[in-house]
Amino acid sequence: MNETINTILKRRSTRSYKRQQISEGDLNQLIEAGKYAPSAANEQPWHFTVVQNKDMLNKLNRACKDAIAKSPNPQMAKMAASPDFSIFYNAPTVIIISGDTKTIAPQIDCALAMENMFLAAESLNIGACWIHAIFNLLLSEGGKQLKDELQIPKDFNVCAAAGFGYKAGETPAAAERKQGTVTILK
Ligand SMILES: Cc1cc2nc3c(=O)[nH]c(=O)nc-3n(C[C@H](O)[C@H](O)[C@H](O)COP(=O)(O)O)c2cc1C
Repeated sequence: MNETINTILKRRSTRSYKRQQISEGDLNQLIEAGKYAPSAANEQPWHFTVVQNKDMLNKLNRACKDAIAKSPNPQMAKMAASPDFSIFYNAPTVIIISGDTKTIAPQIDCALAMENMFLAAESLNIGACWIHAIFNLLLSEGGKQLKDELQIPKDFNVCAAAGFGYKAGETPAAAERKQGTVTILK
C-alpha cells in the first residue's frame, strides 16, 4: 500500500496528547498542508487561527463547557459539568479555520483544509480531533466577544476547529465501515 493511502487509513481522532507543544516546524507544515486544499474557484477563503496561549485555551474550554452544560442532552450536560473534562482533551494547540462568508463555499473549503491538516498531522505522528463545540459557540451571539479576542477577521465565520498535539497512548482501532455506501455505474 502506498504511503498516502496508508496515512489516510491510519488516521484516527486522537483524544489523549502529550503536554509537549508541537514544534514550529511541524506547525508550519500543518498550516501549509491546509493552505493547499482545493477551494471553490480557487478562492482560498480561509483564515487559520492557532491558539497555543494557555489562558486563551482555558477561556475557550470554559466557554464551550458552559454552553454544553445547558444542553438538553443529559449525557452531554453531565460531561460538561465535570471539572476535569477538557473539551479539547488537553490538546496543547487548537486550530480554528474560519471562512470568508462572501465566497462560494467557505464551509466546504475550510473542512477540506482541515482534513488536509489531519492527514499531514498523521504523517508527522501528531494527533488531532475535530471539536464541534467551538464552532457552535463562536457562531452564537454570546461568542462574539471571543471571536474578536481570537482576531477572527470581519465577515469570516468559524467553519472548523480541532485540537492538535503529539499522541500519547494507543490509537484505538477504526470503527467498522458501513456497508452499501457505494454505487458504481459502468
Ligand atoms: C463535523 C465533526 C464534528 C466532530 N465533533 C467532535 C467533537 O466535538 N468531539 C470529539 O471528540 N470528536 C468529534 N468528532 C470526531 C468524530 O467523533 C470521529 O471523526 C468519528 O467518531 C470517527 O472516528 P475517527 O476520526 O477516529 O475515524 C467530530 C468529527 C466531525 C467530522
